[in-house]
Amino acid sequence: MKAIVYTQYGSPDVLRLKDVEKPTPRDDEVLIRVRATTVNRTDCATIRAKPFFMRMVTGLFKPKKQIPGTEFAGDIEAVGKGVSSLKIGDKVFGFDDQGAGSHAQYMTIKEDKVVIMPDKISYGQAAASSEGAHYAYNFINKVDLKAGQHVLVNGATGAIGSATVQLLKDFDVTITAVCATKNIELVKSLGANKVINYTKDDFTKDEQNYDFVFDMVGKSSFFKCKHILKPGGVYLSSDLGYMWQNLFLPLITPLLQPLISHKKAVFPTPTDIRGSLGLIKRLIEQNKFKAVIDREFPLEHIVEAYKYVEKGHKIGNVIITVEHNDKI
Ligand SMILES: NC(=O)c1ccc[n+]([C@@H]2O[C@H](COP(=O)([O-])OP(=O)(O)OC[C@H]3O[C@@H](n4cnc5c(N)ncnc54)[C@H](OP(=O)(O)O)[C@@H]3O)[C@@H](O)[C@H]2O)c1
Repeated sequence: MKAIVYTQYGSPDVLRLKDVEKPTPRDDEVLIRVRATTVNRTDCATIRAKPFFMRMVTGLFKPKKQIPGTEFAGDIEAVGKGVSSLKIGDKVFGFDDQGAGSHAQYMTIKEDKVVIMPDKISYGQAAASSEGAHYAYNFINKVDLKAGQHVLVNGATGAIGSATVQLLKDFDVTITAVCATKNIELVKSLGANKVINYTKDDFTKDEQNYDFVFDMVGKSSFFKCKHILKPGGVYLSSDLGYMWQNLFLPLITPLLQPLISHKKAVFPTPTDIRGSLGLIKRLIEQNKFKAVIDREFPLEHIVEAYKYVEKGHKIGNVIITVEHNDKI
């Protein structure tokens, strides 16, 4: 089979399209014929092994898993002896932030990282529906949202940000989204009630106060946003922040109460991928979530896709289509 392979960490130029052996599923795994995958920010960080501590998982000196890729959609081609919830022929999608090896024509994965695709969506749309929405869901369910509250989402056009705005809609809160001029209509269509154009205005100087600030692009900090939070307000970031401060602030801010008016920072670790995928599937079927797509690349042009995604300006998701003929 064809697969994207890398044997050393580095820029996207370390990636090569190669012929490799088709994998065989273990007892608790399924073999998937990949139809679509994505390039996301996790993939970009993984191939460069940045931040450095990622190497504790991905391999200290060189990648343990030589085929990258975390999101996927495709068809089940074989199942291990112990697999009970999926069968050959099922159309499935899923995600593994520890590495799914989905930048290939075939991949194997444990059944608990895979669910049946929602009806009536394309493989590309399904592949793009997992990571951003999984993180958005895991961030939202770590805080206590109440109807009528005010929430600001910075980076509302990214994979995580665009999913966050859509998922927040369900909570009947007022959403202020921060994006660039060209994306104002898009974020309104996703459900934002108010938009701040970051190329003209600094949202951290906004006169309105918020119950929650979700920074889904990691361009602010708790201290910059503290004064736009209401007393008891919560700051949440998808990014580690300068000197990894977002890892430590959740431990420190509770100790500073009431000096900081009971405001606090949280930094959730997303878990339970299958739980998220099940919820995302339901939201797609109820027309409450649709992954935003920026553009598509064929697998053989994946280096171009990585170079585009790592610039940090993609709008939603970048899909990689995987052909199963002699074209590649
Ligand atoms: N916690 C985790 O496990 C985890 C996992 C994946 C990613 N992340 C982090 O989460 C962040 C977002 O990931 P993502 O995949 O959603 O990113 P992404 O798709 O690359 O999105 C970034 C978005 O933010 C917009 N943007 C750029 N500069 C901005 C600014 N100053 N203010 C507001 N918006 C701005 C970009 O559009 P324009 O440039 O056109 O404005 C783009 O749409 C990244 O920092 C990533 O490292 C964390």
